[in-house]
Amino acid sequence: MTTSLSPLTTQRPILALPDHLISQIAAGEVVERPSAVVKELLENALDAGATTITVRLEEGGVKRIAIIDNGRGIPADQLPLAVQRHATSKINSLEELENVATLGFRGEALASISSVAILTLTTRTAEAPHAWQIESGKITPASGAQGTTVDVQDLYYNTPARRKFLKSEQTEFGHCAEVVRRIALARPDVSFSLSHNGKTVDHWNVSAIDKRSATILGDNFANARLPIDESAGPLRLHGFIGLPTASKGRADSQYFYVNGRFVRDKLLTHAVRAAYQDVLHGDRYPSYVIALDLDPALVDVNVHPSKIEVRFRDSRSIHQFVFHAVNRALAQTSATAFGTVPAPATAGISDTQSNNGRLPWIGGEQTSFSAQFASPAFAINDSNLNQSGSGNSSNYDYSFMQQRAQGAQGAGVAQSAESYGAFFGAKTAQATESNLPNDDHPLGFALAQLHGIYVLAQNSKGLVLVDMHAAHERILYEQLKNALDENAMPVQSLLIPMTFHADGVEVGTAEENQDILKSLGFDIAAISPTTLAVRAVPALLKNADAQSLARDVLREVREFGGSRVLIDRRNELLGTLACHTAVRANRSLTIVEMNALLRQMEQTERADQCNHGRPTWVQMGLNDLDKMFMRGQ
Ligand SMILES: Nc1ncnc2c1ncn2[C@@H]1O[C@H](COP(=O)(O)OP(=O)(O)OP(=O)(O)O)[C@@H](O)[C@H]1O
Ligand SMILES: [Mg+2]
Repeated sequence: MTTSLSPLTTQRPILALPDHLISQIAAGEVVERPSAVVKELLENALDAGATTITVRLEEGGVKRIAIIDNGRGIPADQLPLAVQRHATSKINSLEELENVATLGFRGEALASISSVAILTLTTRTAEAPHAWQIESGKITPASGAQGTTVDVQDLYYNTPARRKFLKSEQTEFGHCAEVVRRIALARPDVSFSLSHNGKTVDHWNVSAIDKRSATILGDNFANARLPIDESAGPLRLHGFIGLPTASKGRADSQYFYVNGRFVRDKLLTHAVRAAYQDVLHGDRYPSYVIALDLDPALVDVNVHPSKIEVRFRDSRSIHQFVFHAVNRALAQTSATAFGTVPAPATAGISDTQSNNGRLPWIGGEQTSFSAQFASPAFAINDSNLNQSGSGNSSNYDYSFMQQRAQGAQGAGVAQSAESYGAFFGAKTAQATESNLPNDDHPLGFALAQLHGIYVLAQNSKGLVLVDMHAAHERILYEQLKNALDENAMPVQSLLIPMTFHADGVEVGTAEENQDILKSLGFDIAAISPTTLAVRAVPALLKNADAQSLARDVLREVREFGGSRVLIDRRNELLGTLACHTAVRANRSLTIVEMNALLRQMEQTERADQCNHGRPTWVQMGLNDLDKMFMRGQ
């Protein structure tokens, strides 16, 4: 294939490029498509302190992009500089660049835009008796209120090759609207309106971040999210993270801001993703609106033409901070009412708030969080969390199915303090006897089982419905993880080994990976070239079919290699094993067993979702029931 990049056959003289061409080349990077113009103009309006911004688009922004703000405006004598390349009011030294707190700093956007479109800028400062307008370098008096209107028409009229790369009007408009959403999410203190071809598409009044994000991301997110707010030294992470039930098949509801700037940063995305790993299936994407605020000197924003990527001075500690903050917030979902938003996780709040007050959801929103969510349905019981977190390995055999094996039958059967002691602690035993809902037991006490699938329980708020398979699966999974982490997987030897026919690869895999199988709690021996014998399984999984457990483990070890199974694939593997073992539908449970399940759920981190991100329980408050029956209306 011949290419147009073949070297010149003759040396041509080196010449400085004309200014206009320089701008057009720069525009290639800065003004990639209409949405990039929208972004640059919105950022300028925000940097100018606007509180009301109107965006008017025609034909996907290609025909026209007009952005009207009520910001500071530009003094008439500086108008020519505004559209000149490398002229900016925002920085004036390397030191200022390294500490930049405005969205713009290159002095390039307006120049780039005006090199590929017809740009008219009308502006008026508070002091000026009237507005001024600049178009094609000509300045004339104009009318208008304080603020700036930038009107960009016929994008790429002079660079037709570029214009050909544009997609359909609807697609380009979609990109523009997404840019407006991103910016509106970062600045709930500013009102935004967006219209397309004369029709209003979006309008957001000034509000707090909880409301703005609910409006923009929709009910699905608003009803299943956790506030997050953690600080450590110069770092602060805050916003909302969606519960797994608010996850999506596409990564289109992920909003991450660094010092108020929307970014798509691999490091940050990875940290969040890793924190969700335990509660989200691999093909689901979490939804979130998260802001990381830090001293601007700790992050370089000058690494990408559209500033969408950043570079952190200490990327490792940023990754850890983000991962742990999100992980902690997700872990705290264990004893909170589903659908009710618990109080923000505020571990290690520091008073060194790097923020300069520019981002409104800093400081201000604290009050709105607490006003709205001050009393979570159930306070998280620290001792419960610690208990499950520390993973007491000697007590691992507290599968609730064991209660059944011990012959606990019927409602309210009194068990000895010791047998409960190993299982849920003596305090719980008393509560079980009295069977009265109280806030020590947020999930309440079992009433009955429905169709062999759901457990019905009564708590202080009303009715609790538990998907028993999903809940048990989650509990087993967390227990397996803790046991493996502590290198203390309790093993159950089988009285009669389970033998099964295996192919050569399975036999070979078992023989080569004895150590790994052992650390997982399995003893699988080859007793002939075509027969494997399972002699021991993890005690937590003893109720499952040993053969299918063994086959699953061997398949994972074979496909991913022994050591990877224990690192990268560990959680998937444990999830599969837990799913095999968890109590199946149509298994009838006694009240004692059901209560045991409820107590374990309360003590298990992330018990609100099964490993596949489905909810494990829901609350129906008395209010909800009253409404259903129109009581008191
Ligand atoms: N809406 C506006 N209101 C007030 N001043 C504005 C507005 N838009 C632009 N300006 C002024 O014009 C200058 C040039 O804007 P331009 O967007 O080209 O560069 P910048 O914002 O400084 O940097 P960047 O290229 O990174 O965006 C700004 O520094 C600012 O002083
Ligand atoms: Mg700018």
